[in-house]
Amino acid sequence: MPQQERIETRPARMRRAVRWLTTPLLPDDYLRLLNPLWSSRELRGRVVQVIPETETAATLVIKPGWGWTFDHKAGQYVGIGAEVDGRWHWRSYSLTSTPTDEAGVISITVKAMAEGFLSGHLTELAAGTVVRLAAPAGDFTLPDPPPAKILFLTAGSGLTPVMAMLRTLHRRDELTDIVLVHSAPTEHDVLFRAELRSLAEQHPELTYVERLTDREGMLALDRLADVVPDWTDREAWACGPPAMLDAAEKAYAAAGVPEKLHLERFSVDLAGAGGEGGTVTFERTGRTAEVDGATTLLEAGEAAGVQMPFGCRMGICQSCVVPLLKGSVRDLRNGTDHQEGDRIQTCVSAAAGDCVLEV
Ligand SMILES: Cc1cc2nc3c(=O)[nH]c(=O)nc-3n(C[C@H](O)[C@H](O)[C@H](O)COP(=O)(O)OP(=O)(O)OC[C@H]3O[C@@H](n4cnc5c(N)ncnc54)[C@H](O)[C@@H]3O)c2cc1C
Ligand code: FES
Repeated sequence: MPQQERIETRPARMRRAVRWLTTPLLPDDYLRLLNPLWSSRELRGRVVQVIPETETAATLVIKPGWGWTFDHKAGQYVGIGAEVDGRWHWRSYSLTSTPTDEAGVISITVKAMAEGFLSGHLTELAAGTVVRLAAPAGDFTLPDPPPAKILFLTAGSGLTPVMAMLRTLHRRDELTDIVLVHSAPTEHDVLFRAELRSLAEQHPELTYVERLTDREGMLALDRLADVVPDWTDREAWACGPPAMLDAAEKAYAAAGVPEKLHLERFSVDLAGAGGEGGTVTFERTGRTAEVDGATTLLEAGEAAGVQMPFGCRMGICQSCVVPLLKGSVRDLRNGTDHQEGDRIQTCVSAAAGDCVLEV
């Protein structure tokens, strides 16, 4: 028996059974008539509440449908697909809820980016909207049991995965010696401010250091000892803007303790040399797309209606890797060209001429 069948989960077995019962017609057509959250092919969820957190950020409380297993690890992210003008668009968001199914819901907290496409749309979704979900993933998580001394370094929306960790540790009564240093421009921009203060009041072992950068300036990470004297003794989890994370990497490397630092990046720099663009053929589905040299092959496939594999959409997780059967594609991070026979990450690659992908 193949490995995959042996480890097939109950929801997956049920989805397979429905597929068998309804073949040759599409099982989703039947299931959607009964409940829009039921699908034999994909995870879905219904937005049950949108809670404003700051002027630009909101928490989406989502009730997942059939197949969701409520066993994610605090710190992991989910993929969220939302329909805009008839097309589905996907982004990744850290779960802010704890891994439990008591309330039967999950939550994410989205900061609307001024120049961004989907985040502003998500923060304004109406309760009742059905979204698509991709299963939780990511290794920005705490070990079990957690280390005795922890440092969380966060800024802006980078607080979200750490919030899930703090909520989980609080819930399990496992808060160890933790220092959270969180930066935001003003106190009005601090996510979950009241909850953070309340947690610090309840738990003397949690020290909450708030850095309001409009007033105090950015935290200089080469002078972290001024704020957290024993920082090199602490296992650290950091999430925030790229410049902050780059500075954290430098500081930990300079102190000779790079292994103590765990990073989560929300964005990837795709400013390397673009491809030439061309005709992309998605071989298994027989679809093609004319693309420019800046559009990722993942986006191109999705726009052409191909079910593309993906995870983080940021070049980290390798979930989007597919074989390049013909032609050449360019990695948008660094301009490296890949040729026929290579396995390529579609979320960070664009066409460098006509090419054929095995998907
Ligand atoms: C693992 C992971 C977890 C994440 N968790 C969270 C989270 O918990 N909360 C959260 O808010 N975000 C999170 N993100 C980020 C999130 O996935 C999106 O990238 C973010 O919401 C922006 O999406 P968007 O569609 O609005 O921006 P996009 O349209 O995808 O644009 C991406 C970036 O490019 C910039 N940009 C776009 N167009 C232009 C332009 N014309 N000129 C200049 N700049 C431009 C935008 O400002 C934005 O910064 C996470 C990302 C990852 C990888
Ligand atoms: S989707 Fe994670 S590396 Fe491409």
